[in-house]
Amino acid sequence: MEAIDGRLRRLSCTRVQRSIVGGYEWLPLILRKMMKQANNILFLAGLFLLIAGITVTQPMVNNNLKNKMMNIGIPEKNRQKISNRLNALLANEFALFAKTNKYHWNIEGKHFGPLHTLFQKQYEMIAQIIDGIAERVRSLGFKAIGTLVEFVEYMTIVEEPGKNPDERTMILNLLADQQKIINQLRNDIDFAMDKGDAGTNNFLTDIIEKHEKMAWMLRAHFSEQ
Ligand SMILES: [Fe+2]
Repeated sequence: MEAIDGRLRRLSCTRVQRSIVGGYEWLPLILRKMMKQANNILFLAGLFLLIAGITVTQPMVNNNLKNKMMNIGIPEKNRQKISNRLNALLANEFALFAKTNKYHWNIEGKHFGPLHTLFQKQYEMIAQIIDGIAERVRSLGFKAIGTLVEFVEYMTIVEEPGKNPDERTMILNLLADQQKIINQLRNDIDFAMDKGDAGTNNFLTDIIEKHEKMAWMLRAHFSEQ
């Protein structure tokens, strides 16, 4: 009996031990998995913070560096205002370039030859002016506009889509637009001088002379007699 009781006790102890160990044997496995997951999450969180930090601080470092490098004696807010005006001028120049180019293509009539050539010379001149204005904006530390949507937003020159006027109206339209730009330039020259920007003042003075010459060549087609 004692031997039987001993076996039963050992058996029951073994079952109890087995049930305890068997009940929690998943625990180390789960803990290991949790630690691994936690490590992964910590690693991903750290990586995210590192990338976010670089993304946020790098432009600030670049901007500070650019600001330190930009020291031409004109305050940033004045350079910004002048650049805005130059971008508005750029838009009108582009509109005039497009109109002159279209007239070059579609001109008809007894003066086709000389007007076809004149319009080409004028849009080529305007193309050079456009490039100069955009680069002047960059020289002042800002970005030049350059898409058709931006040009439409800034320009004040009026277009006439779908219309192909006669040669006399073409000349009158171009003359009106040239003179509009001349007056815009005159205001911009005064503005640049008022803001202490001698470079833009000189640059625009050169451009206004070119526009005045183009306007004269258009105006000269009409005689007072
Ligand atoms: Fe052509």
